[in-house]
Formats: sequence, C-alpha cells, structure tokens
Amino acid sequence: MTVEREYTEGRTTFLSADVEYYSGDKKQIRANLPVFYNPRMRLNRDMSVLFLSSYLRDNTIRSLCEPLTGSGVRTLRYLKEVPGNFTAKMFDVNPNAVEVVQKNIRLLNLENRAKVLRGDARLLLLSESREERFDYVDVDPFGTPAPYLNAAIQSLNPDGGLLALTATDMPVLCGTYQKVALRRYGGFSIKAPFVHEIAVRLLEGFVFRVAGLNDCSMLPLAILSTDHYVRVWVKVEADRERANSQAESLGVIRYCEGCMQTQTIPQRARYEDIAFEHAIPDCRGPIRIAGPLWIGDLFNKEYLEHAQESFKDDDASLYHKRVPRILEEMLEESTLTDFPFIDLHSLCDLHNLTPPSNYDILECLKDAGHSVARTHFSPTAIRTNASVHEVTSAIASLMRR
Ligand SMILES: C[S@@+](CC[C@H](N)C(=O)[O-])C[C@H]1O[C@@H](n2cnc3c(N)ncnc32)[C@H](O)[C@@H]1O
Ligand SMILES: [Zn+2]
Repeated sequence: MTVEREYTEGRTTFLSADVEYYSGDKKQIRANLPVFYNPRMRLNRDMSVLFLSSYLRDNTIRSLCEPLTGSGVRTLRYLKEVPGNFTAKMFDVNPNAVEVVQKNIRLLNLENRAKVLRGDARLLLLSESREERFDYVDVDPFGTPAPYLNAAIQSLNPDGGLLALTATDMPVLCGTYQKVALRRYGGFSIKAPFVHEIAVRLLEGFVFRVAGLNDCSMLPLAILSTDHYVRVWVKVEADRERANSQAESLGVIRYCEGCMQTQTIPQRARYEDIAFEHAIPDCRGPIRIAGPLWIGDLFNKEYLEHAQESFKDDDASLYHKRVPRILEEMLEESTLTDFPFIDLHSLCDLHNLTPPSNYDILECLKDAGHSVARTHFSPTAIRTNASVHEVTSAIASLMRR
C-alpha cells in the first residue's frame, strides 16, 4: 500500500505518494518513489499552465496527452486551471501511479474529461492518437525526452499541435558527456558560461530534425532554463516548405575559452573556412564547437505577451514567486537571441575586473547605442548585440568612474 498524502499546487488539490515519508531525512526526491511527484518542479508546471493558457488565446484544442504522468498533477492542473473544454489522456508504466491518477480523477470530478492508461508511453502515444490526434503533448520524463520524441510528434495534430518537452539530463546537455549528447541529440555539447543556452539549442535542434523527418516544421514559442532542467515549447505543423526553409536555423556555435568570443554559423556554411575573430589580440584559444544545434529564435514574443496577460488576469499568489520576473526577462530577451548570452561574472574573472551591477552595465551599453536585455537564464548574464570586447571595455570604463 502506497503511503499517500494530499498536496496542493495552484488551484489543484491531489493525492500522491508522501514525498517526505519515502525520502526520509535526505530531502532528495528519489526517482523510485512509489508514485513520482517532485514538488520542486512546481515552477515548471506553473509556467506550463500559463503557456497553455497563452496558446489557447490563438488556438483551440480538443485533446491533450501527458505520456509520462506520475501522479498526474501536471495534467490535472491543466484541466482545472486552464480555461477550455479539452479532454486529456495520461499514461504511465507504473501501476501505482495509474491507481493514484484514477483516484485523483474521481476526487476532482474529472471523469468526463480525463482518462489514464497503464503502459509504455511510445506505444500508447501512437495507439491512442489513431482515431484523433492530440493538439498538445507534454513530455516530462526522468532524464531525456529523446526516446519519446518521434512518437510524440507522430501523435500530434498535423494541422498544428503544441509540443512541450522537459530534459533533466543536464550533464549530457552541458558538456560533461559530449559524446552522449551527440548520439542522444545529434550534436556535441561543450562547457561554456552559456552552457544552458547550448542545452536548449541542442534539444531544439533535435526536435527540428525529428519534426523534419515527419515532414513537419517547428516554430519555437518559449523555453525555460534552470540549474536542474531545460524545457521547450514549440508548435509543430505538417509543412515541408517551411521545414526546408528552417534548415538555415541549424548550425554550430564556436566559443573561445581564451577570450569568451562566440560565433554562430549556419550548418550550410563551410565553417571550417570561416575566420574566427578573437576578442583579445594574440588569443590562442582553445576554440570549442557546439552542435549542430538550433541557431534560430528561441521565443515568440506574442506567445510570451499572452502568457503574461494570463498571469496578470489571475491570482498571483497561486504561482511561484519567480514567475512574474521570469516572464519579464523572457520578454526582454526574446528579440535578442541571435547572440548567446554573456555571463558578466565569467567575463570579469577572465579580465580581473570587479563585476558592476547588471543595471549599470546595461545602461552603459544602451548609452553607447547597443541593444541590451536581461536574460532569464541567469541573473549575472545579459544579452546584447555588443561584442564581448565592447562589453569588457564598458565594464572597465565603469570601474574608472
Ligand atoms: C518525471 S516522472 C513524471 C512527472 C510528471 N510529468 C509531473 O509533472 O509530475 C516520469 C514518469 O514516467 C514514468 N515512466 C518511465 N518510463 C515510462 C515509459 N516508458 N512509459 C510510460 N511511463 C514511463 C515513470 O513511472 C514516472 O512516473
Ligand atoms: Zn580567443
């Protein structure tokens, strides 16, 4: 018998395995809980609720699917908190999870809208979408979503479907296991101060290719990055022509460890022949190459604005306290994603400078005519069209004041 406990997230109260009882003193959420529920992923789910609400401002959805559901909390929250009359299917291989989800469906009076099935996510995604494809699929697994991606895309409505994916295999995506990244996501990861952006771009590059092999295009809507995971929201649509033209958005990022210079190059260019201009004279590198990965946009500004409106229309106390600021920062950085973000503390370490406040450096670069933005990726980083060299000079000039 699973020891259960009642939890509340947002407007949704549900049952799951008692996390404290099973984790003991360690406070570490273990993957082998009788039913998996990680309260620390609430921010991820809060953002997911808002991004689904945002999607529904321009699209209608009839059905959604969460193929790896655990306690069901994510989908239960969609059903309870997102306006709309859609139905939902949830899958899990774990019989205890299926039992708890069934209880939750009854407790929340969702019998007419929700169904849970036990089995392998990949098989069920394909079989359960045969009669009617899903309008939204949310893949939130342990570790990598890669094994589920093809089935998830094939289960989506070809006229346009929302796909959200979480990846928690950060050592792979962030350069510790570069060869694993190559076989799992089709591109090399590297270690760099903007490694979380590389992680997101590797994941999106992989989604682009799997969408492409199914004759679909991929429109990035939003991404979310924290220390523990990255998450992407994209719209997938059967559209070969757009998929072909999006090939320009696949490429590599070159990064010099010696001077922190970066360079983004489309895959089609012969990047071996393209000169690399270091940010410091006589810099000897080494230069690392990440990718192939997605070098296109990461956000859709309108989608973020709609999410922000949904947040403002709702009771803020129901959401994680970081939500409003994250949305603001995403909106700021959404039009400046052509350049990887620059971590100011790493740059200051490199040049033995004292980091100024983010505000001061942003103002200083703005005064010099550059576009600048904060980034939700890190409080110590910025996005700008200024070069690394120009940012370094701006920091040095602030120190002289
Ligand atoms: C990270 S948990 C899901 C958490 C959930 N999405 C949430 O937001 O709370 C991953 C779940 O996938 C289930 N699982 C693992 N492999 C599976 C497979 N091949 N098919 C279906 N479910 C699977 C596990 O039992 C576990 O409940
Ligand atoms: Zn260099």
